Amino acid sequence: MPESVDVVIRGASVYDGTGAPPRRADVALAGDRVASVGDASALHANLSLDASGLALAPGFVDVHTHDDFALVTRPEMDFKILGGVTTVVVGNCGLGASPWSVARGWAGAFAPEGTVLPEWDGFAGYFALLDREPASTNAAALVGHAVVRASAMGNERRAPDARELEAMRALVREGRDAGAVGFSTGLIYEPGRWADPAEVTALAAVFAGTGGLYATHMRDEGLGLLDSVRESIEVGRRAGVPVQISHHKASGSAAWGLVKESLRLIEAAQAEGLDVTADQYPYTAGSTGLFAIVRNGAFDGGPGGLGRISPDKVVIAASPGHPEWEGKTIVELGSLLGLEPQAAALRAVELCPATTAVLHSMSEDDVRTVMRHKSTMIGSDGIPSLPGKPHPRLWGTFARVLGRYARDLGLFPLAEAVHRMTGMAARKFGLRDRGVIRAGAFADLVVFDPARILDVGTYEDPNHPPVGVRDVFVNGARVVRDGAHTGARPGRALRRA
Ligand code: ZN
Ligand code: CU
Repeated sequence: MPESVDVVIRGASVYDGTGAPPRRADVALAGDRVASVGDASALHANLSLDASGLALAPGFVDVHTHDDFALVTRPEMDFKILGGVTTVVVGNCGLGASPWSVARGWAGAFAPEGTVLPEWDGFAGYFALLDREPASTNAAALVGHAVVRASAMGNERRAPDARELEAMRALVREGRDAGAVGFSTGLIYEPGRWADPAEVTALAAVFAGTGGLYATHMRDEGLGLLDSVRESIEVGRRAGVPVQISHHKASGSAAWGLVKESLRLIEAAQAEGLDVTADQYPYTAGSTGLFAIVRNGAFDGGPGGLGRISPDKVVIAASPGHPEWEGKTIVELGSLLGLEPQAAALRAVELCPATTAVLHSMSEDDVRTVMRHKSTMIGSDGIPSLPGKPHPRLWGTFARVLGRYARDLGLFPLAEAVHRMTGMAARKFGLRDRGVIRAGAFADLVVFDPARILDVGTYEDPNHPPVGVRDVFVNGARVVRDGAHTGARPGRALRRA
């Protein structure tokens, strides 16, 4: 009698997530775990899939997302799972799921439209909701500074007093104890930008000794990039926590090339023994709230943060209630509203505060320099403003790194690309038994065609899954079959190990 398992994926080139070269093997699944890697010809399986000629990798870990609400309002998570993403990390850039009363204010920009948001109590309540009403992907969460600060002291442009700081620390502790994987800031946004490094350090330190990390959308990604990287490393050093620099880039043409220096700062920190890494999305355009672009003075050389960006390089992505603006540049919006570009942007923010935009702000050289570097993992920073024209990174990030940058441009071997989006990410974010293919690991898996995989969405027409992803498993359950969603929702809330 042959031994029996649930699933065997036969004959694929297995990329195990460690960066090791692929090897041909059968992978057997039993329950939610990988049962064996090797020759499975003696095993009987309920489902046997031939994957010869295809690649089998751990499901991709999207370390930088804003899917806090999408997990609840669009639990099929089609824009992620159809591209092979099996785990999302939410709570980036200082945003986050709790306290709900403040967090919900962001739902206009970040929740797919047309759904009602249920209420939850703290991160414990958020995780419990995801357990009760699972999504198709797993989710880990960061505690977002802006939400915590707004809850404790509104949008006050000053340092917290002792009571306010303690109120913030209590909220961060609640997230930590519920199982959040770290603390995040968004220091170009209000109210995050009013926080000095001492405040950020005091809050990040709540995670000291737990394995939780500090992730940061830094104060300035333009001409102040290097000071911002120094500040981030210093926070990590003083708080005693690992650092993750979010969407590492140089924004605005005046700052292009600075990433060579910022990478050296990361190397120097690593040489000192500090755990400092970064993430990146593979595009020369960014995306954020239009209010943030306006308030950072991007069009008129104001206080900085985003660098200086011409209004014809900024395109409306989504504007609930004003679909006629979507796809228009700020210059075109100005003609439509009969206003100068800066005034038109302000007017749009007034009429629809949830308006998001795509900004063409980076150089392709810089994107490649950052991607080649060993400190860089992959995170989409996708904004699930659906419908609308969200930045195509929402759907395409991982396929684009694999297809365009690894295969077509030869930036690094495919095994290295897979490692940056699986094993490296799972280790940094404390996702135990994920991000690798080995006996005993969770069966989060993606079968893809390395010759075909590629992103398809464009800035004009972004809402398409990539090509070349055939099957996806999450916790042993098949969520994608021949490129189509099965409707399964086996995702889990991943609490810090
Ligand atoms: Zn950000
Ligand atoms: Cu972000």
